[in-house]
Amino acid sequence: MALTISKTAIILTILASIISSSLSSPIIDELNQPPPPDFSSTLSANCLRDPSLRYCNSTTSDLLNIFKSTIVSKHLCIASQNPNCNLSFSFINLHSTPTLAPLYLSFSFFWKYCPTSILSINLSNNSLKGPFPSHVLQCMQIHALDLSHNALSGHAPLEAFKLLTNLSFLNLSYNHFSEITDEKDEYFLIKRFNSSSFIHSGLLLSHHHGFKVTTSIFLLVGVLVFAVSVVGFLGRLFVRRPDYLPSILRRRRHNKYTPAMLKAATGGFSDDNLVEKSERWEIYRGRLRDGTEVGIRVQRGRFSRVSRNAFVEECRVLAMMEHENLVKVLGWCDNRDLIAVVSDQRTSVCSVEEWLVGSSPPWNHRLKVCIGVMQGLRYLQQQWPQVGCDLRTSNVMLSQELNPLISKFRVGTKQNNAEAKIVYKFGLFLLEMITNKNPREDFGGGEEEFVGWINKVYNHGHSRTLIDEKLRVISSQAYEEMKRALSIGLACTAVKSDSLPTIDEIFLMFSRISASSQVVHKIHAERKKELSKSSHHGLHIL
Ligand SMILES: *[C@@H]1O[C@H](CO)[C@@H](O)[C@H](O)[C@H]1NC(C)=O
Ligand SMILES: *[C@@H]1O[C@H](CO)[C@@H](O)[C@H](O)[C@H]1NC(C)=O
Ligand SMILES: *[C@@H]1O[C@H](CO)[C@@H](O)[C@H](O)[C@H]1NC(C)=O
Ligand SMILES: *[C@@H]1O[C@H](CO)[C@@H](O)[C@H](O)[C@H]1NC(C)=O
Ligand SMILES: *[C@@H]1O[C@H](CO)[C@@H](O)[C@H](O)[C@H]1NC(C)=O
Ligand SMILES: *[C@@H]1O[C@H](CO)[C@@H](O)[C@H](O)[C@H]1NC(C)=O
Ligand SMILES: *[C@@H]1O[C@H](CO)[C@@H](O)[C@H](O)[C@H]1NC(C)=O
Repeated sequence: MALTISKTAIILTILASIISSSLSSPIIDELNQPPPPDFSSTLSANCLRDPSLRYCNSTTSDLLNIFKSTIVSKHLCIASQNPNCNLSFSFINLHSTPTLAPLYLSFSFFWKYCPTSILSINLSNNSLKGPFPSHVLQCMQIHALDLSHNALSGHAPLEAFKLLTNLSFLNLSYNHFSEITDEKDEYFLIKRFNSSSFIHSGLLLSHHHGFKVTTSIFLLVGVLVFAVSVVGFLGRLFVRRPDYLPSILRRRRHNKYTPAMLKAATGGFSDDNLVEKSERWEIYRGRLRDGTEVGIRVQRGRFSRVSRNAFVEECRVLAMMEHENLVKVLGWCDNRDLIAVVSDQRTSVCSVEEWLVGSSPPWNHRLKVCIGVMQGLRYLQQQWPQVGCDLRTSNVMLSQELNPLISKFRVGTKQNNAEAKIVYKFGLFLLEMITNKNPREDFGGGEEEFVGWINKVYNHGHSRTLIDEKLRVISSQAYEEMKRALSIGLACTAVKSDSLPTIDEIFLMFSRISASSQVVHKIHAERKKELSKSSHHGLHIL
């Protein structure tokens, strides 16, 4: 006991010298005083009056600490500007008092006997460092706790929050806590408090990908400098084999979203943000907390653990795909009654369908888009054969730079005719790009009639009439290219033929079309630039 007192005295003296300028009240002097002789009987009287006082169950050996805690209570009540300071004051308000707050926090004896009258504690904006000040939570009755705008780190004591049954306001925003690793805990926090309680707290997923690898898959036939090829190859390894990534770059947890996050991102799934609705899916546009614009495909229902696990496995695959011509899947939500896929919409401006109908783009732009789609499909086929896509002009998004982005993927086991299906879809896509006719809307007989009509006109040598009317004034070179593209489109859609071209063959045919085309020279130049950029990037990471 004597030892404790002398230690405390030393600490208090040191504190006193540190804070003497800012703390004019004689708290330190008072704390150094011994309790008055009748203190023990005062306590007994208080406890008779109010047995809920925290010190009533303590042993008398703690008398000194109880005494000191009453002194701190008094000063804290005054510093907090409570209207009426006696043993039952209702709040602690130490916001923006960076010298006082740490001092009061250091009085652990005070928190141990936290007055049960205190309902709100505000310690915001104090540059508090170090771990969560857990002894504050000994005030178990509190309704509000504000620790925002500090520099607290380490784990937040989630289990302890669960014991604070009356806590309805919590603000931990703007701190440096460690990210919550258990999804259930995260869900608990967001459900019980508002996600705006954890802004930039470090606790919740940040949704920033730990890395951004510029995909360096060069698919155009062209001369590539040896050095660039080597770097590109390494870069490709990097992209293709996620297992080679250091684990810190593969933090899969960053892919998971809660229903609350999606709700917040879409304004409560508001109709204004509803883009598309089918029997099973609803697609919303939204904005995540970090500002990322996303597309969210939502399915509601009752999902068993087994089906959710399968869903998550699919999403994991989708989230690993990285190609400049595929919409990036950022993550998913696998709740019991809501599952969703979240994809990046930052770069998308509109769908190819809208672009084609709305702006009648010139041929070289259309060709560039077709080549991009081909590259995306080739990447899918080579790297992710289990992933299919519903390729059509309305499902391919377009970036500002006319970079097509394939969306709406499907994960399944690789089927025997998967490639034939995708080749057919690509053929339709290509024909639509040339004719600007929609096989699903402009033809009663759908795709079959569309292809039949093109075949007939083409075989009668009238291919010029097939070309989009808005493209009538075209150079002879562009016309030649279009004719070749038409023939590729027809080859891809010749379902009765037993020798459909493969994706690689189409790719080769395309490179021949475009070998003489300006668009390709331009693309080559762009690619070279990209490659040199990505090579720096790749080297840096490696
Ligand atoms: C003091 O202890 C008694 C019996 O152990 C208990 O019922 C009471 O709730 C305790 N009071 C406080 C304030 O902890
Ligand atoms: C203590 O202050 C509260 C208001 O904060 C008041 O209602 C109560 O009567 C006061 N008690 C004593 C003993 O002065
Ligand atoms: C935070 O405290 C600083 C002084 O320490 C003050 O200048 C600033 O206005 C405070 N910010 C808020 C939001 O209270
Ligand atoms: C929460 O408030 C209720 C009603 O005021 C009270 O009975 C209960 O003890 C409080 N819970 C805690 C943990 O203090
Ligand atoms: C804490 O103080 C800040 C600054 O005045 C205020 O914005 C915030 O609402 C307070 N928090 C609580 C729980 O009273
Ligand atoms: C959560 O905070 C947002 C604003 O940040 C607010 O619009 C919303 O009403 C809050 N939700 C609840 C349940 O408090
Ligand atoms: C928490 O504090 C931050 C920063 O002051 C504020 O933006 C946020 O709205 C607060 N959250 C709640 C739930 O009051």
